[in-house]
Amino acid sequence: MADDAPHQAVATEPRPDLSPAGLTDEAIEAGRKLFAAECRFFFGAQKLEQLPPPAGIEIAFAGRSNVGKSSLLNALTGRNSLARVSTEPGRTRQLNFFDLGGRLTLVDMPGYGYARASKQIKADWQGMMFDYLRGRTTLVRVMLLLDSRIEVKQADHDVMDLLDRAAVTYQIVLTKADGLKPGALARKQEDIRALVAKHPAAFPEIATTSSETGAGLPELRAVLTGLAH
Ligand code: GTP
Ligand code: MG
Repeated sequence: MADDAPHQAVATEPRPDLSPAGLTDEAIEAGRKLFAAECRFFFGAQKLEQLPPPAGIEIAFAGRSNVGKSSLLNALTGRNSLARVSTEPGRTRQLNFFDLGGRLTLVDMPGYGYARASKQIKADWQGMMFDYLRGRTTLVRVMLLLDSRIEVKQADHDVMDLLDRAAVTYQIVLTKADGLKPGALARKQEDIRALVAKHPAAFPEIATTSSETGAGLPELRAVLTGLAH
């Protein structure tokens, strides 16, 4: 499971498929087990010079402010208050590092594209964030979250281009899937698959999740566990 080969596509189903296709029951069970392990915050970094020494396997959760990064981390790990969540964009203000069972480091990132942030704040967090995404040797995959209910914004396209140029593999996660009817969600997934196909560093399979209902979480846990030691 540690390879980057795309999973086999399955026959079209009447309901939208919330998961990357082709996951086995064993992979789902391995994901459940790992994410039931202890998850512990161990580092917060506001500056690039403050990052923890590179070690292990890192997976970063990136995306616009308010897309649901912190909520997804909480939902994946089954802990309500591991990462701080807020209705107000700009809640997460540093790179927060979490150790999951000694096998994976999950990184909750500040959001980008927060229009009301001051220039200084943008330069501080956002510059650091992009430097981290481009240059971190232990980063095996960026989970790039997009809100399924809204259009992909210019800032998202810019980040996809940046990751393409840096040759950092990223996988799209469509969040807040509870906010769309099945037909609209299926159309959104098609649009995003078409977008992904144009980006060389984008992983071909997308994930679709709801942190509210838990939809798509077992599958995403399995995908992430496939990247662990
Ligand atoms: P920043 O840290 O500011 O970049 O935001 P974030 O991406 O970490 O978003 P956060 O998890 O704080 O969630 C933002 C808002 O979206 C909160 O009001 C959440 O309750 C809501 N939210 C997150 N996930 C979901 C979801 O799956 N469904 C719905 N309906 N709302 C969600
Ligand atoms: Mg956050």
